[in-house]
Amino acid sequence: SFLTRILSGTALALSLGAAALPVSAAEYRIAVGDGAGGTQEALGKAFVAALEEKSGGKMTGKLFLNGQLGDEQDTVTAAATGTLDFSILAINNITPFSPTVGTLTLPYVILSQEDAEKVTQGEIGRQMVDQTVEDAGVRIIGWAYSGFRVLTNSKKPIATVADLQGVVVRVPKNEIMIETYKSWGINPTPMAWGETFAALQQKVVDGQDNPYMTVNAMKFYEVQKYVTNLRYLFSIEPLIVSEALFQSLSPEEQQQVLEAGQEATQVSAQFLRDQENKIKEELVGRGMEITEPADEEKEFIELATTKVWPKFYDQIGGKEVLDGVLTSLGRDPV
Ligand code: MLT
Repeated sequence: SFLTRILSGTALALSLGAAALPVSAAEYRIAVGDGAGGTQEALGKAFVAALEEKSGGKMTGKLFLNGQLGDEQDTVTAAATGTLDFSILAINNITPFSPTVGTLTLPYVILSQEDAEKVTQGEIGRQMVDQTVEDAGVRIIGWAYSGFRVLTNSKKPIATVADLQGVVVRVPKNEIMIETYKSWGINPTPMAWGETFAALQQKVVDGQDNPYMTVNAMKFYEVQKYVTNLRYLFSIEPLIVSEALFQSLSPEEQQQVLEAGQEATQVSAQFLRDQENKIKEELVGRGMEITEPADEEKEFIELATTKVWPKFYDQIGGKEVLDGVLTSLGRDPV
């Protein structure tokens, strides 16, 4: 009826009004390393929506994409000193500040999205959160999952370790990733994330590795042609909050932040499940050529696991830390 329509119109107007943020709402700055369209942005958007909802509009956040608030590794320092509120970045860019999370960047440890979710959301993930607070002054409150880091390059199809020789590959400033490429016989070029696109474009380097989602969000298809479907590192990309900021919140607000982070984690996990294949096809449509590693990647796997793992036992807190992760995933300890 007419009356119902008027009433529901009023209800709509009221609910829209109620959704507007209180004038005193705290708006947090959230650094995002990648461009639009990736899993980092999906996690960030879902976090802001959940935070607004849970806090009744008293807390919100604004995303600054594409490293506008600083390079990924620098945002860790900024959050630790309290000059930045939140950051979403790849786990490999936290490792230099919290070596234990390096376990998650060891090659061929996380072998699927299910593995990634299990480790990060279970007891091991909780211990890593505590350790990171202690080591780095930032608290991981959510996790994005971005898929395996595939190797892209502008020179040629790469299927074997032999094919890789002579190719100049950019890696993050992450010792484990550097050593992984060394185990495959090349000396990679460590470089900040924010400089990577330009370096590929200007051919300072031939290639890099990152998930399909990131290759797309960063428009790397404009400057890279060949993709090798490596599965050595499943990219996990946490949402961190400055521990100083977190400790300044009331227990109720802390709870709201944590719950919003958990909700956003689920959204991000679903986003990857829904989008990865579609994005992969889009990249092929844009002219990228995908190569499968020869012999089911055996040579890459053997070299990396035998040469790299033992080098980092001390740094990650002992071989038993890796064994703990492996057994939690139903695999044999080393
Ligand atoms: C890196 O390669 O430095 C990171 O994985 C970039 C990212 O956050 O996507």
